[in-house]
Amino acid sequence: MSALFSNFKLKDITLRNRIAIPPMCQYSAVDGLVNDWHRVHYATLARGGAGLVIVEATGVAPEGRITPACLGLWNDAQATELAKLAAAIKAGGAVPGIQIGHAGRKASANRPWEGDDHIADGDPRGWATLSPSAVAFGANLAKVPKAMTFEDIARVRDDFVAAAKRALDAGFEWLELHFAHGYLAQSFFSVHANQRTDQYGGDYAGRSRFLLETLAAVREVWPEHLPLTARFGVIEFDGCDEETLAESIDLSVAFRKAGLDMLNVSVGFSTLKANIPWAPAFLAPIAEKVRSATGMPVASSWGIDMPATAERVVAEHQMDLVMIGRAHLANPHWAYQAAKVLGVEKPSWVLPAPYAHWLERYSANV
Ligand SMILES: Cc1cc2nc3c(=O)[nH]c(=O)nc-3n(C[C@H](O)[C@H](O)[C@H](O)COP(=O)(O)O)c2cc1C
Repeated sequence: MSALFSNFKLKDITLRNRIAIPPMCQYSAVDGLVNDWHRVHYATLARGGAGLVIVEATGVAPEGRITPACLGLWNDAQATELAKLAAAIKAGGAVPGIQIGHAGRKASANRPWEGDDHIADGDPRGWATLSPSAVAFGANLAKVPKAMTFEDIARVRDDFVAAAKRALDAGFEWLELHFAHGYLAQSFFSVHANQRTDQYGGDYAGRSRFLLETLAAVREVWPEHLPLTARFGVIEFDGCDEETLAESIDLSVAFRKAGLDMLNVSVGFSTLKANIPWAPAFLAPIAEKVRSATGMPVASSWGIDMPATAERVVAEHQMDLVMIGRAHLANPHWAYQAAKVLGVEKPSWVLPAPYAHWLERYSANV
């Protein structure tokens, strides 16, 4: 019996297995709107057999997009198109999830394959960025953000709430708040980005305030019976890891008390001075630590592409869900391949019938 292919229930939602496709920006939108690229991409991923498909980081406000080609959810036209995407994911047999976020000081960038750097000042494609403090990330993201006023903070929190409502109305059943990767929420928590001396900065409580207030406000509009999750960078690999992880675990416990159902454990990416120990499944022991310290279910990713590794991290209770990202870009039917490798009975039936029927007696050599 495969642990990876067992059901996973969170609130009223049951996933058909423990394989989740994490949010992966496609940088293919215009005006934040879904188009044919997204429709084909997400329907294909959902048909591939994963239990959960989370739509890419979707900006809660225009200035919260990473690039001008990122999806948005600040108006009804965007919500209408996203509703079709949610329906297509569901029709493919997966639970439709969406990640909503604000890119903070890393916003207003060129697409990764067009430089991955800040759009030059004066270029009409770019915009002014926001962050807790007027401190740039650095290197190719050197634009100095505006330090947010209390009004800015309240407005962005309300933008998260409005986007959550629209996501619900659009038919998404799983909401992930983007509190990771050096974007706005992570920047509030990180000493690398937050140099405020008011109630939104300074000590642990101050640096946690924006995240907790945003979570609490979203929880009020996101129904109790549906999973509310967050992706959070619990560690920076900047030499202060013990302290950061301890604070992150405290904050995760507070998230749980504020109504969070699951944590997607990730890296902070708040500083250039990090030394990240890239290796297959390198975050699994950290995810396990967060899971046991908080008592909250966790998901994680980074470098898990072998079915045996995915099976092991679930069987050994290091994580409840395994996020398989780039391997799904290489092979949208990764779940089918994993089912075959792991000896799941009738592996082809992780795929929809129009494929499964033919593959039951045929095994491709590629
Ligand atoms: C093309 C691409 C886009 C990504 N976009 C997002 C995103 O929108 N939000 C996010 O939290 N992580 C994003 N990530 C990180 C992935 O969710 C994932 O954590 C990462 O790819 C590591 O997992 P993997 O080794 O299975 O690919 C992105 C990664 C890739 C490759």
